[in-house]
Amino acid sequence: MTHSRDTNKSPILIAIDGPAGAGKSTIARLLAERLGVPYLDTGAMYRAVGLLAKRQGLLPPYSDEAGPRLEALVIRHKLDFRPGEEGFRVLIDGNDVSEELRTPEASDLASAVSAVSTVRKALVPLQRQMAARAGGVMEGRDIGSVVLPNADLKVFLTATSEERARRRYAELTQRGVDTAQAEVLESQRRRDLQDSSRTDSPLQVARGSVVIDSTSLTPEAVVERILKELERRRETPLDTSGGDAVKSRNHGRLAHGSRLPAEEERF
Ligand code: DC
Repeated sequence: MTHSRDTNKSPILIAIDGPAGAGKSTIARLLAERLGVPYLDTGAMYRAVGLLAKRQGLLPPYSDEAGPRLEALVIRHKLDFRPGEEGFRVLIDGNDVSEELRTPEASDLASAVSAVSTVRKALVPLQRQMAARAGGVMEGRDIGSVVLPNADLKVFLTATSEERARRRYAELTQRGVDTAQAEVLESQRRRDLQDSSRTDSPLQVARGSVVIDSTSLTPEAVVERILKELERRRETPLDTSGGDAVKSRNHGRLAHGSRLPAEEERF
């Protein structure tokens, strides 16, 4: 079923999908600031479930029997997702776990739980609710295809696997994580394969998406390209000043003209 959106009344909704390391978080955050709408990080939601599962000793690989147990975790615990000036924060039973979600282990756990349908069924309605509240720039793997098929604009952001691994490696070493580039490339390959080959909502280019290869583009160039496309599709000029609340905010840690850092600058 398709629903049309009244773009003059509805808050702006942008879907950004793509593989790990493509620059989704950086671009989604910058765009959200320019448009004065919330930045919505659905990967963080799957990461939270992965962390909960680990705490309960529910480790991958997950068989069919794990589905109800993982679903029960989501229901039994209070998961609080808060888009705001401090980025997208995640609280589990009142405790902010946002930083804990940013480890390579959390990435692997998130990828594993995200392949379980009961987990997706529990999280997708929450994602739609967040988007309906105030619009936003939502990033993930199935946003354009499943969560927000009627977004004002769907973007599929990609980059070569070498460039994505290079960004991730640079970011990890900057954070003091001891790793090797080959290891990063291998774990990225594993996660890409898992995310794009699962049965439920695999990573794919949603119909109608603008595909952008960020390999040799600056974040600013990617953002400008998206804004131009958005304006063209909405057929109305956009206010990209970010709004008053946003203007006073730190506009991110990216230097102008820098290349995209690792997808999650937070890694
Ligand atoms: O975007 P991220 O790296 O934080 O996402 C972590 C994992 O969560 C990713 O490997 C796949 C999964 N994910 C998903 O299946 N669907 C989404 N909409 C977002 C993330």
